Amino acid sequence: MIERASADELTLAQVMLPEDANPRGNVHGGTLMKLADTAGGVCATRHSRQQVVTVVMDSMTFEEPVYVGNLVVVHAQVTWTGRSSIETEVTIEAEDVLTGEVRRVSTAYLVYVAIDEHGRPTAVRPFEVTTAEQRRRWHAAEQRRARRLGLVDSSVRA
Ligand SMILES: CC(C)(COP(=O)(O)OP(=O)(O)OC[C@H]1O[C@@H](n2cnc3c(N)ncnc32)[C@H](O)[C@@H]1OP(=O)(O)O)[C@@H](O)C(=O)NCCC(=O)NCCS
Repeated sequence: MIERASADELTLAQVMLPEDANPRGNVHGGTLMKLADTAGGVCATRHSRQQVVTVVMDSMTFEEPVYVGNLVVVHAQVTWTGRSSIETEVTIEAEDVLTGEVRRVSTAYLVYVAIDEHGRPTAVRPFEVTTAEQRRRWHAAEQRRARRLGLVDSSVRA
């Protein structure tokens, strides 16, 4: 069996086709959201090796347009785990494969819950923080979680 370097992150790449876009060639936000959810979901599944469902998709903003023909590269990584929930950070980039220009399109946070055969939340393997960068992401994830669960004033952004 081939061991992956890390089961806690992954990258998906897909060329945008006319069916992904409006008649002017701008890729639909929904196409990118689906790719983000796919990448985050596979990442959470690989981490936990359990079935997961999406429980939160933080508000997504699209900072740059994506066009038909662009290569969309979606990177997902686990940032935090609770008892049954897993937060992933998902970044989306668009590459013009003719010029090589790469633009950051979006960053989003998606939370998944591992479920058992009855659809009930079940415990996940804790994410092991080993680097300073992972620790920074973990603390930022804790603050997002507190906001999501209404534990702090949501008007205060971390
Ligand atoms: C996800 C689901 C199983 C959670 O069920 P639940 O009865 O709310 O379970 P719990 O209250 O025990 O919460 C489970 C975990 O989700 C977390 N959670 C629930 N709502 C949350 C929210 N709004 N923000 C962040 N975390 C949340 C809880 O904090 C808990 O995390 P922890 O175990 O790590 O502490 C249930 O809401 C569900 O089935 N939702 C539909 C999911 C779905 O169909 N998604 C789209 C298709 S995949």
